[in-house]
Amino acid sequence: MTAPMPISLDVNGERVDAQVLPRLNLADFLREHLQLTGTHIGCEHGVCGACTVRLNGEIVRSCLMLAVQAHGASVQTIEGLSDSGEVADLQAAFRDRNALQCGYCTPGMLMAAQDLLLQEAEPDRERIREHLSGNYCRCTGYHAIVDAIETTARMRRGLGP
Ligand code: FES
Ligand code: FES
Repeated sequence: MTAPMPISLDVNGERVDAQVLPRLNLADFLREHLQLTGTHIGCEHGVCGACTVRLNGEIVRSCLMLAVQAHGASVQTIEGLSDSGEVADLQAAFRDRNALQCGYCTPGMLMAAQDLLLQEAEPDRERIREHLSGNYCRCTGYHAIVDAIETTARMRRGLGP
């Protein structure tokens, strides 16, 4: 089946109506149709986590989903989380702790980190590493990323960095 199909979904709080080919994946739809290029594409087979977005409140790999599967869903990308200020403290901690170098992994890392911090107020370093184990970073060696997330968790609990 190659004819475009109509889809409607909510993206970062705005309704989007589009015609998409059934084979188009959600990552490409977000990047190419909506110019939401903060969702990155690395491996395209569900391994690296660069394409992580939130779908109906759960983080998913947008390279593994078809855009048509998001019909009727609510999608949040890093642009949505960033513009709303939801991850402002995490972003500041990543900057302060040098938790990004090239930045390619960063949107996916922030999505995964925020997902963890919404579930757990006090994750230890092992738990942070476990939750990020599906997100690859080729630059930082992960230590600084774990530092940034641990610091943010402490700050959200009203403790100092
Ligand atoms: S691009 Fe989706 S997991 Fe790597
Ligand atoms: S900062 Fe370069 S891949 Fe993570």
